[in-house]
Amino acid sequence: AIYPEASRVVSQFDFSDADINRHVQEFLKQMGEGLEKDGTSLSQIPTYVTGVPNGTEKGLYLAVDLGGTNFRVCSVTLHGDTTFDLTFDKVAIPKDLMVAKTASELFSFLAKQVEAFLQKHHAEHFECHLQRRKTGSAPEGFKEQEIFHLGFTFSFPVQQLAINKGNLMRWTKGFDIPDAVGKDVCALLQVEIDKLGLPVKVAALVNDTVGTLMARSYTSTGKYRSILGAIFGTGTNGAYIEKTSNIKKKIVGDYDTSTGEMVINAEWGSFDNQLNVLPNTPWDQTLDRDSVNPGIQMFEKRVSGMFLGEIVRLAVVDLIKDEKTLLFKNPDVAAAGGSILEQWGLDSAVMSAAAKDESADLSDLKQELSILLNGFVPTTEDAQTFKAVSYAVGRRAARLSAVALGAIALQSGKVQDPKEEVIDIGVDGSLVEHYPQFREMIYEALESVKEIGPEGAKKIRIGIAKDGSGVGAALIALIADRSSKTSQ
Ligand code: BG6
Ligand code: GLC
Repeated sequence: AIYPEASRVVSQFDFSDADINRHVQEFLKQMGEGLEKDGTSLSQIPTYVTGVPNGTEKGLYLAVDLGGTNFRVCSVTLHGDTTFDLTFDKVAIPKDLMVAKTASELFSFLAKQVEAFLQKHHAEHFECHLQRRKTGSAPEGFKEQEIFHLGFTFSFPVQQLAINKGNLMRWTKGFDIPDAVGKDVCALLQVEIDKLGLPVKVAALVNDTVGTLMARSYTSTGKYRSILGAIFGTGTNGAYIEKTSNIKKKIVGDYDTSTGEMVINAEWGSFDNQLNVLPNTPWDQTLDRDSVNPGIQMFEKRVSGMFLGEIVRLAVVDLIKDEKTLLFKNPDVAAAGGSILEQWGLDSAVMSAAAKDESADLSDLKQELSILLNGFVPTTEDAQTFKAVSYAVGRRAARLSAVALGAIALQSGKVQDPKEEVIDIGVDGSLVEHYPQFREMIYEALESVKEIGPEGAKKIRIGIAKDGSGVGAALIALIADRSSKTSQ
């Protein structure tokens, strides 16, 4: 059984059906505001992507992907029959680079990873280029077109000016390099690539959510069309297809108007920064106050993997300090120490472990917890109490996620349309991939949205588009490549 005092904590994370409905209405309202003007909480960024792939795209492209847990370099061969091959290397992003003094420190690291990738996986091509650089002439048979076109997945809010140009609006997810804010991130990467003399042109700039939508569309063509790509990982966000006639604010650059649609990067992590509706427990408040970006990404701070563990930790520490509860008192953790007492000391992965352990004595969870408790193994009641708090925070996050997905499903107009049998959504990210029952909790919550209901919810299909954004970035590099050729 859980310690009775813990129920006062658990109940503060309740998120009722009525809450869901109130949030969906507010989400739709803030989506509308973001389509009208700049500077609103949901940024609703036009991406210049006006079509989705149809699966026949072909070619070899490079992609790099920055903004989740890892930095990845990939090469993607699109076969043109909805299938592709992907080769990739990934490295964890060094923590000190996330808060580097200059943008160049981070971007030169990225360029070096591209160089290492080319040497390893495309050595022949790479050698050709080295020779050309040294002797001034290309070896026989070398074609200038062999320059790799690269799609850059950069998963932060960027004011996009063209398909391959965009200025960083602000950092999120713990990154903080003020020097880069306001600068064109494609140019920052290209400069570092050129310093190394690599045969690479940064051809397209893509948010991870846009990449996810593209990849899902490439692999699922013919059967249905995805309306939304969403990430539930370190951060959370979504990109969806909007009618250009609904985009009332000015789109500064040129774009292809023939489809009447454009992909919008919602940047929903900042939904309701003004807290019109979002829940705001004392632990949400502490987390925000002590973060690098207080007052922004308020939705993300209640939903995504980077923050959920910290909310659980703060709530649990509150109980540890409460003399009335026995939680973690034998021995007294508050005196004994352990990372559970330190900011960010509890990774959201522990929440997945808690949800996964269904044994009577929660032995796996106790093991996980002991690492955070300076080695001491908690009692079964301790573990049960922890599990209850963790479940409450995870469930609130899933139900908040359903708010975003439900609102965008409604905005698409497909829920009520009897001709639309499937409303497809592609998702990626460590949270939706690893947290048990995350998608099931979202489905359950979608049923309770009044305008969707159980019948409408049945049409909504949430499918994992694993590693989608690398493939998606390659697809956009291809599309950019094609349109620059036709406009020449
Ligand atoms: C990866 C995508 O699979 O998922 C990234 O390639 C994306 O672009 C990431 O940012 C999100 O997951 P996480 O958990 O690493 O933030
Ligand atoms: C953060 C970023 C956003 C990204 C999301 C998921 O919210 O601001 O651009 O898509 O994380 O990685």
